[in-house]
Amino acid sequence: MTEKPADRRSAPTVVVAQSPDEFAGAVAVQVKRQLHARSSSVLALPTGQTPIGVYAELSRRCREEEISFVDVRTFNLDEFVGLPADHPASFETYMMAHLFSHIDIDLAKVHIPNGNAANLEQECRAYEREIAAVGGIDLAIVGIGANGHIAFNEPGTPFDSRTRVIELTTSSKAAHAAEFGGIDQVPELAITMGIGTILQSRRIVLLALGADKAEIVARAIEGPVTTDVPASVLQTHPNVLVMLDRAAAANLHIAQ
Ligand code: PGA
Repeated sequence: MTEKPADRRSAPTVVVAQSPDEFAGAVAVQVKRQLHARSSSVLALPTGQTPIGVYAELSRRCREEEISFVDVRTFNLDEFVGLPADHPASFETYMMAHLFSHIDIDLAKVHIPNGNAANLEQECRAYEREIAAVGGIDLAIVGIGANGHIAFNEPGTPFDSRTRVIELTTSSKAAHAAEFGGIDQVPELAITMGIGTILQSRRIVLLALGADKAEIVARAIEGPVTTDVPASVLQTHPNVLVMLDRAAAANLHIAQ
């Protein structure tokens, strides 16, 4: 694993793992350190392909009693609107399958936006209030979409945005088409934590794997800070760690 501080003072530290196992282990170590520093940490958690190995690694470490989530509170980054919670492609189903049913977390401390709330605006405001009520997010783990989104904050999202209902772009719908059996089956709407909400986290870890992410990772980390690439806002946060594999790091200058 190589670790290099980026070449600008404000830029995030970048860690490049040499294998999927090394990547999952290195991210799990970040979570472990966080939980050792504060057992009742508040985590923001992503879904997607990227964190699956990380969640498997966290589940293993929990089973082997290396870490405990008993006192941890979690807030998922996003959820589709209008799916039953037990729909195979809902993020709630994903989180239960990949993490929550394998660890010792108290499900009362798990928060996932309710995409079936009768009043979605109220649900979004309540989500923000719940995050504030527990003192804010200690560690946010976020993925990056091929279009640069973090959570479902699509290009053009203002950096001070809060939790809200958004319309998914074609790029984001295409990324989920397989789980839904076609892009036409993907919901039009989702609830997402806002960029402003994510930026208030005390620490942020950005994850990306694979050659498909190489170009957008370079734009996000080394390009201009612009709402065209939502993840580029992370350059303005004082405590960001970018964790990549070699393929996702391939276009970074600092990796050359
Ligand atoms: P992925 O999704 O991990 O499935 O690539 C990342 C994201 O869209 O945030």
